This record gives sequence, structure tokens and C-alpha cells, in this order.
Amino acid sequence: MFGPPGSGKGTQAKLLRQSLGVAHISTGDMLREHLAAGDEMGKEIAGVMQSGGLVPDETVNRMVEERIERPDCEKGFILDGFPRTVPQARLLAGLLAAKGIRPLVVHLKVDYNVVIARISGRRQCPTCGALYAISSNVPTVSEVCDYDGSKLAIREDDRPEVVGERLRAYERQTAPVLEFLRQAGYACFDVEGADAPPQVIARRIEGLIRGVDPLVESGAGKG
Ligand code: AP5
Repeated sequence: MFGPPGSGKGTQAKLLRQSLGVAHISTGDMLREHLAAGDEMGKEIAGVMQSGGLVPDETVNRMVEERIERPDCEKGFILDGFPRTVPQARLLAGLLAAKGIRPLVVHLKVDYNVVIARISGRRQCPTCGALYAISSNVPTVSEVCDYDGSKLAIREDDRPEVVGERLRAYERQTAPVLEFLRQAGYACFDVEGADAPPQVIARRIEGLIRGVDPLVESGAGKG
């Protein structure tokens, strides 16, 4: 899943892992687990994550390399938030080639004004990771997770002063990765990510993966 902060990568990955029966690997969630645990890696990455920058490639690459070796990835996996730099994309290309995996890139197209509005209204369950939005996807009881009753939290890096830096990091370091992936010959699909509720967008992506949805704009094979 590829796209700017707040484009819906996590929301879509959570829906698709259920319908496709594959693992969901969110580098952001994994890094936040280290932050919450306060372990050695958590201490190392705290500053950069809280300021909206990117964690060093070696740290993230090592984490992903280990993660995709776990048994739940045997049937496939959704990468959410990785690769985010060209060196990460190079590492991934090597790992996938070694495993004989043919990747498919889904690029969620969402205007920056929309992502800024979404991020300012995002809430997340600190226990199970379920995502909510204060205007569209509200929990049944205000500020309480529908699944486990935990009090919903606002992400530390969703503060307005940090969001600008996250978007700048996306422009500078992550947007060029899409071109790299296209040049590598991967199937890349540009999917409109802001004109419908998450479930509708997930059905589009699923249809696209199964090769039957004519409504999705396909960028496959674009140079
Ligand atoms: P990460 O956790 O990956 O954050 P991100 O890429 O900034 O993306 P977000 O989680 O903000 O948004 P999303 O696209 O998943 O959207 P969501 O589904 O939540 O990374 C965080 C940090 O970790 C980085 O800044 C960096 O420091 C570090 N990091 C992570 N990976 C790294 C890497 N590879 N290398 C280096 N550093 C790394 O949706 C957003 C909101 O919109 C939600 O409220 C949702 O309910 C709502 N919404 C979703 N879809 C819709 C819809 N269709 N209609 C209306 N609302 C919707």
C-alpha cells in the first residue's frame, strides 16, 4: 500500500488482510510498539518519529527482513508504510526476487487537504489498533473502542506541527519511490482514495487484485 500520510493505507490493509487472508505488516505500528515498550530501539527512534522524520533505513530494513520470514507471511503479505525511501525499495526488490514473489503496488491518491483533515480527526485504539475518524467512522460510544472498550488515543505525530514535516518527508523521500517501483516493472495501480467510504475502496482494490474491476484506473506497466 503506497500513499501519503493519512491516505488510508492502514485502513485498507486492515480490511484487505481479512478478505485476502494475508499478513499485514505496518512498519509504523511496529515502530510504535517499540516506542511504547521503551526498549532500546524505542529510545533510539523516539526523537525522529515525534518530529515527523523517517527512521534510518538500516533499522527499518532489518525489522522488515525479519518480519517477512515469519510463518504468517507464507501466503503473502501487505506492506503498509514500506518501502519509504529508494534504498528501502532496493532492499525489498532483492528480498522479493529471492523469494520469487511478484508484488503489486496500490497507490492511494488523496489530496493533501483531505489527508490533513483526516489526520486531525483520527483516533486509534491503543490496544487492538482499530482506526476511527471523528467525522465519518465514529465508534458507537464516543472515544471508546467498539472491539475492546479501550479509551481511544490521538497519535503523538498527528499534532498539526508534526503533520507538515511528515508531508514534507513524503514529498522528498517517499514520492520518488513510486517511480522506482514503476521502473522496476512492478504492476502499479493508482486508486482514487477519497471519493468513497473505506469498504467501497477496499472492494475496488480487491477487484483490481483479482483483475475484474473496470472502475479502477490502472497504471500497470507505466514507465
Ligand atoms: P505510519 O504509521 O506508516 O504513518 P503514515 O505513513 O504517516 O500513515 P498514517 O498511518 O498517518 O496514515 P494511513 O495512510 O495509514 O491512513 P489511515 O488508514 O490511518 O508511520 C509513522 C512514522 O513511523 C513515520 O512518520 C516515520 O517516522 C516512521 N516510519 C514508518 N515506516 C517507516 C519506514 N518505512 N521508514 C522510515 N520510517 C518509517 O487513515 C487516516 C484517517 O482517515 C483515519 O482516521 C481513517 O479512519 C480515515 N479514513 C481512511 N480512509 C477513509 C475514507 N475512505 N474516507 C474517510 N476517512 C477515511
